[in-house]
Parts: sequence; C-alpha cells; structure tokens
Amino acid sequence: MENKNAIVVTVGHKAKPEHFVLAREMAEKLGAPFSERGNTSLEAIRERFGVSCVMVAKEKLVVDTPDGELYFHPGMAHLRLKNLRRGESDHLLNALALAEGMHVLDCTLGMGADAIVESFGAGETGKVIALEKNPVVAALIAHGLETSDGEHPTTVAAMRRVRVVCTDYLDYLREQPDNSFDAVYFDPMFRHPFTESAGIHPLRFLADPRPVSSEAIQEARRVARHRVVLKESSKSEEFARLGFTEFEGGKYSNVRYGVMRME
Ligand SMILES: C[S@@+](CC[C@H](N)C(=O)[O-])C[C@H]1O[C@@H](n2cnc3c(N)ncnc32)[C@H](O)[C@@H]1O
Repeated sequence: MENKNAIVVTVGHKAKPEHFVLAREMAEKLGAPFSERGNTSLEAIRERFGVSCVMVAKEKLVVDTPDGELYFHPGMAHLRLKNLRRGESDHLLNALALAEGMHVLDCTLGMGADAIVESFGAGETGKVIALEKNPVVAALIAHGLETSDGEHPTTVAAMRRVRVVCTDYLDYLREQPDNSFDAVYFDPMFRHPFTESAGIHPLRFLADPRPVSSEAIQEARRVARHRVVLKESSKSEEFARLGFTEFEGGKYSNVRYGVMRME
C-alpha cells in the first residue's frame, strides 16, 4: 500500500540560506530525508525516493501532493474574525459557548482555521490545544501558525496562541483528567463529501479519514466541563449515531454543529 506520509523535504529553486535551515528542521522533525533540489523536478524527486508527497521550503512551506499543493493560509479564518471584530457572531463559537478565558480542545486541527477562530474567542487568557494525527499536516500548519504574518494584529496573536500537538485524539483524550477543558470539538473529514468545502482538496490526501467513535465522544464528555461539539454536513447521520440532538448553524448552510451540553 502507498505510504501517504512518505515525504522528502527539499528547498525551492532559488533557495536562500534560511530555506535550507527550515528544510533541515522539518526533515528532522518528520524523520524524512532531505534532498537538495537543484534543477530536479518534483516528479523526479518523487520517483527517486518512491514517495507521494514532497515538502518544499521556500518563502513558505508547501507540501506537494498528488491532489495539489497544501500550505497554511489564514484566509479561511480571516473573514470570520473580521465579522467577530465587528461584533457579529460565529456559529462555531456559539456552539462551543466560548467566552474569554476558556480552555478548548480542538481534536481535529486540519488547516487550522477553526482553531484560530477558537483562539480569538478564548482570548489572551484562554487556551486552545489543537490535535492532528497526520505529522505532515501537523508540522505544516504549526509552522504557519507560528510564523505567518501580514494579518490583523489580533488574528496574528490568535494564531500564535494555538498549541499544536501531533497525536491521535482518542489517545490524548484518554490521558486527560475529568473536566479539564471547557469545550471539546471534533471536525472529522465528512463522511459524505458532497459539500463544496469537502471536495477534492489536498488535505484529503493526507488526512485521517476515520469516523469519530462512540468511545471518543464518551471520553470527550468526561474531559469537557461544558460542551462537546461535532461539525458535520447538515444531513449527516453521524449526529444520530453519536447521540447529538441539539444543533447550531445557519438555516441554509450545508454544515451543522451538533452540541452536547454537560452542565
Ligand atoms: C476536516 S479536517 C479539520 C479542519 C479544521 N477544523 C479546519 O478548520 O481547518 C479533519 C482533520 O482531523 C484530522 N484527524 C482525523 N482523525 C484524527 C484523530 N483520530 N486524531 C487527530 N486528528 C485527526 C485529519 O487528519 C484532518 O487533518
């Protein structure tokens, strides 16, 4: 079977010394080979190393997958934070009942957009820990959250406060004491990828596609003081399977947040 995590780290065509430093750091972190690219094509690198993905360190980090390029961009959180700054509400923050100072466990980091919104909602005195099973995704997005700039200062501050942990959420949840977070959130890969946002996206190539288990929800209920939230497509049967009966989300939206209250 193809190893979807198999990756080589290299530098861009016009590599600067700092790109080498970053590439070597990532190669070490991921336990992946480092190769100087020179004029070699990514295709040739893939073939030479027998891998499906190549991480390229240039001005930013890019992971080249067979389904396209994956890179961190705060754009997805940008509009939501802009609306929040204007005093508007956000369905995810409502579902989590998030307030300044709260501690959130985001079990599914993915591209990090929801984690940034949660971090903004929890504020400077709050805490967001975001978990990601795939090491390439975890390293790529953690690096983006730590270094990406040029956004509104409160967006940058929210990004910097997210703590990324590369692990399986069930393993992590099992180790947490009872009531140790205010809210626990799951945004698994959609069971039925018919929504626009769940279409062909390079994340799909790397992401862990398994459904959320009843055991994970049970653990989350033990760890959460107030709420457990699951995001799924609006018509998903996952809500019923996992016992979610209360919902938050736009009337006409094709995604919904299932909410379980602990209080
Ligand atoms: C739909 S994406 C999350 C998107 C994210 N909410 C955002 O705003 O970008 C789901 C992510 O959860 C990760 N994931 C799936 N199962 C996991 C598990 N058991 N433990 C940790 N991460 C997991 C996948 O690898 C994928 O990156």
